[in-house]
Amino acid sequence: MKTTPEVAELLHELMLRDLLASEVYHVQAVLLRDQGLLHLAEHFEGESLHERLHADWQLERLTFLEVPIDLSKRPGHVPMGTTAKEFIEASLKMELGVADKLGKLCEAATNVDEGTLTLAQRLLEETETDHIFWLEQQLTLIDQVGEAQYLAQMTHAAEPG
Ligand SMILES: [Fe+2]
Ligand SMILES: [Fe+2]
Repeated sequence: MKTTPEVAELLHELMLRDLLASEVYHVQAVLLRDQGLLHLAEHFEGESLHERLHADWQLERLTFLEVPIDLSKRPGHVPMGTTAKEFIEASLKMELGVADKLGKLCEAATNVDEGTLTLAQRLLEETETDHIFWLEQQLTLIDQVGEAQYLAQMTHAAEPG
């Protein structure tokens, strides 16, 4: 193994969390489509693809570092919610947990594994400035305009192109 056990464990755990996040976002997108919230569904589907990409980068790094992949360590149940607002709240909680772990990975990789540090910094930046920012923005909007008005604005899919 070409890294420390601590870095290996954190990176492996984060990869599994992102795989799960990808699945959760995808399931939420399907449910949002069913509720007619097409615009919101599109965003969640995009997040699902984004998390899948994150998991891929981490998988590639793990295999490069010769860390064995163990799917039996996949995290179990994560609360997902049933309404759009609950999806947003649950996703925010999930992303905050990931950001916290990524911070720990950055610390663990500093001065010992530059490649993993660079990857973790990129993932942390995207998690904070893109995923978490968007989710917090939606909750602020719901507070400001009310849930019904917010949802009414989320029924149209974006125009193609
Ligand atoms: Fe991610
Ligand atoms: Fe994310």
